[in-house]
Amino acid sequence: MRIGILTGGGDCPGLNAVIRAVVLTGAYVHGDETVGFLDGWRGVLEDNTEALPPERCRDILPVGGTILGTSRTNPFAVDGGPPRVGAVLQRHALDTLVVIGGEDTLGVAHRLGAHGVPVVGVPKTIDNDLDGTEVTFGFDTAVQIATDAIDRLRTTAESHHRVIVCEVMGRHAGWIATHAGMAGGAAEILVPEVPFDVAAVCERLTRRHAGGQFSSIVVVSEGATPKETPEADAARRATSTSAVDAFGHARLGGIGAWLAEEVERRTGFEARVTTLGHIQRGGTPTAFDRVLATRFGVAAVAAVHDGDFGTMVALQAGAIVRVPLAAAVARAKTVDLGLYGDVAGVFLG
Ligand code: F6P
Repeated sequence: MRIGILTGGGDCPGLNAVIRAVVLTGAYVHGDETVGFLDGWRGVLEDNTEALPPERCRDILPVGGTILGTSRTNPFAVDGGPPRVGAVLQRHALDTLVVIGGEDTLGVAHRLGAHGVPVVGVPKTIDNDLDGTEVTFGFDTAVQIATDAIDRLRTTAESHHRVIVCEVMGRHAGWIATHAGMAGGAAEILVPEVPFDVAAVCERLTRRHAGGQFSSIVVVSEGATPKETPEADAARRATSTSAVDAFGHARLGGIGAWLAEEVERRTGFEARVTTLGHIQRGGTPTAFDRVLATRFGVAAVAAVHDGDFGTMVALQAGAIVRVPLAAAVARAKTVDLGLYGDVAGVFLG
């Protein structure tokens, strides 16, 4: 078979491991040829490709980012986009397209299915917010990076008797904040799923310090918002740009800085902020993510050869399964509020 492949959306540790697994499984098990589209859906629209023989995949397994490049291009936001995708796939005599991406990229893949494009999806995102799979590759690496950062921030927080706010990624879901906050022993974990009361946060910090603690780490997701209070509006203005990408998402960032200022003003404790940003997406994937990405890649080729299009490979109870793409992109997988409640009830404040 001739397999097209692309990586779309934010880069993510493990993308190259998936590409390698698809190319090598295709070539060595089935005698397939793989063609890479450069920079996500933009490469398909502009017919920008690179042949991917097995030797192109040498040494890429531990490398972060994506050798194919990526973008947030949306073919459905471009005049004549969907038919152009079909025409380009035909021009290259491709039997299928393996699409590695998050909610937006896979959302496009799902919609293209209705235009007759045979797709198989692979779930990628450090945010871990794709439904249908218990975990996406990249999440483990991001959590490890954020946990290491919290451990390092703690020594400064303790030495200077400060509150340090650590802002992590997580647009719709606070998985990174919840897991890294648990692993790093944070005093507060603030997530998009549960709007926070800034007065209550400050009260808890004050109580904690009065009880003998002299420093605190507050982990906040970039998508977390304060409850509807007079200051909530100001917080919103401070934390996202008015410009949106091709999928309608504003650029987030800034809630940590806003919160650190509020904490210092309300509690009198010296407060600082560290925004981890793209550091969480950079560098080499953990062993877990390399293994998961490789298993996903192998499974995607199996789905292709079974003609099981319109599906996404997924991890469920330790096994790699296939789920309908439609189900995977129907809604974001948000943090389990039971888990969050348990953590908050026992460890926070
Ligand atoms: O990949 C998802 C994500 O990490 C979100 O958490 C974040 O809002 C977004 O990417 C930011 O990506 P960029 O700055 O590259 O557009």
